[in-house]
Amino acid sequence: MATTAWSQDKHLSSVNLAMSAQQRKDLQAFRNRLPIFSVKGHLLTEIQKVKTAIIIGETGSGKTTQIPQYLYERGLISKQIAVTQPRRVAAISLAQRVATELGVNVGGKVGYCVRFEDVTSPETKIKFMTDGMMLRETLLDPLLKRYSVIILDEAHERTVQTDILFGVVKAAQRKRTEQGHHPLKVFYTAQTQSDYMFASIVTLFQLHKENPDRGDVLIFLTGQDEIDAAVKMIRSVARDLDHSLPRITVYPLYAALPSHQQLKVFEPAPQGVRKVVVSTNIAETSVTISGIKYVIDSGRVKAKVYNPNSGLDLLRVVQASKDQCIQRMGRAGREEPGTCYRLFTEREFERFRDNTMPEIQRSNLASVVLQLLGLGITRVFDFDFIDPPSEELLSSALIELQQLGAVEGIPDADLTPLGKQMLAYPLVPRLAKVLLLASTHGCLEEILTIVSMLSVDSVMVNPTNKKDEAQAARDKFMSSEGDHITLLNIFRAHKAAKSSKQFCQCNFLNGRNLSTATSVRKQLRDICTRQGLEVTSCGRTTTSVRKCLAAGFFMSAAQLQKEGEYLTLASNEPVSIHPSSALARSKPAVVIYTELVKTTKCYMRDVSVVDPSWLTEAATDYFRRKRLGHVNT
Ligand code: CDP
Ligand code: MG
Repeated sequence: MATTAWSQDKHLSSVNLAMSAQQRKDLQAFRNRLPIFSVKGHLLTEIQKVKTAIIIGETGSGKTTQIPQYLYERGLISKQIAVTQPRRVAAISLAQRVATELGVNVGGKVGYCVRFEDVTSPETKIKFMTDGMMLRETLLDPLLKRYSVIILDEAHERTVQTDILFGVVKAAQRKRTEQGHHPLKVFYTAQTQSDYMFASIVTLFQLHKENPDRGDVLIFLTGQDEIDAAVKMIRSVARDLDHSLPRITVYPLYAALPSHQQLKVFEPAPQGVRKVVVSTNIAETSVTISGIKYVIDSGRVKAKVYNPNSGLDLLRVVQASKDQCIQRMGRAGREEPGTCYRLFTEREFERFRDNTMPEIQRSNLASVVLQLLGLGITRVFDFDFIDPPSEELLSSALIELQQLGAVEGIPDADLTPLGKQMLAYPLVPRLAKVLLLASTHGCLEEILTIVSMLSVDSVMVNPTNKKDEAQAARDKFMSSEGDHITLLNIFRAHKAAKSSKQFCQCNFLNGRNLSTATSVRKQLRDICTRQGLEVTSCGRTTTSVRKCLAAGFFMSAAQLQKEGEYLTLASNEPVSIHPSSALARSKPAVVIYTELVKTTKCYMRDVSVVDPSWLTEAATDYFRRKRLGHVNT
């Protein structure tokens, strides 16, 4: 058998060598015509972001032969790529095919391994093998250390061997992450911690006293406010430390931080000083800081959670998944043995979710359902989602669309003409409705600006030590009508200042996000004109702008109570205006908001004053059904 295979290979290699320049060109052209070629860049980007990817495509589209070559060509592979096949003949013929495409001999860069036949060499980078051979290898090397990437092909066949391989490879993946490059010690708390932020600081100083040697510390907390507070507290405790202990320098790290401040975390601390970085989950995978020896993991993360009962899409602190905790742990000991302190008990950890919940199972699905209906899939409850969202989420999405006037006839829903129009805009249905209304109210220019500003990360920069100064600098943009008009003012002023860098600096604005908003606006405006909407401006009188916002966000309205706090009209839940809002002090009777954040309280962010009659006019039925007709003026 082996001899036959070799003679075949020799034959093949002579074919390779004999291949003319024209044949090579044709082969390259053939590769570039395969369907997978058109998604090559995107595919490689996505693959690099995750530890495991599932790739689905038509037979013959080039998955098996092209993906290993793409990875290899990009230099993404330090060791070998294994591609498993349920059938022996497939493993052999694929190796031959790929070798031909690369213009090399089988057994060189490309090889295969099937029972009784190992046609590979130390040079081999791409190795096709049967499931059985892979299983055998895992017995000898459970961590599968010789591979950088393992592709389990034809996984949909669900043969017993492939199914077992799934488990084995997954275990190897987990163990490899756990091991890191150096031995890692993991400590759990003996008891549940009620205040993880406080616990993280106590842990930090404890480890600092016990291990005053070098080795930097990375603390995982959840969001900007919490991190700023922790950094402040650490600085103040560090000032009073025993002088015999090394000094501490501490940096915050989160997405909204200005980039020059983000870069600080990468600078090594001076000799004899311990660096401490307090970060959100961005240091989990996106950012790697060298020199970290200790990780303190709060076991929490800020995530978007949608509550179908109240209709609130909330950013709030939730438990991290096991996968996330393992990632965090792996951030320690990249260069020397490390330690991870978990601020939860081992029992608690066992009950954490295995992986992060797919966003589809925890977000407002109004956009998804609108798209499905647009595709003619009217029975959304029967749709075969990979990770099916709960029925509750689906029906609340349908109801929201009905309330917006986008669908009728639930549960076998149909799009209304308004719903069909909304499909053309890459926006959540509420914003799409606001946009459509604005064209009839003569304020589309303004709404386009506001919608674009809401679509990008915050344009305001709030350096921890200059919060008041920043707020004061932006005071001139603040509108008594609320934050949406404030955003409009900022955008207009930025444009009038010709997008100058200096303007952004003096006013504590993020130029990058503002220019993204400008480009989003241009794209949206193009769509509007293509759809035949009239793009006109209302000038300085912006009442109609707020009227349109009210008509899209009547489900996110709140009313002031006697005690000075607000209740949502939709579900009577207590909410407050965020201290950074333009309306934080004036506290108008009725407001709508476009974002809600939960920290210690539920805060409305991006708030506008509205006239209650606008709400009832926009959604008469909704307020009658909710018996909220009593909204007082
Ligand atoms: O994995 P998938 O079914 O997506 O496709 P593939 O096996 O990578 O094959 C891509 C194309 O390469 C096929 O459409 C065939 O035309 C060609 N091919 C071949 O000529 N000889 C082989 N042994 C394998 C593939
Ligand atoms: Mg295939």
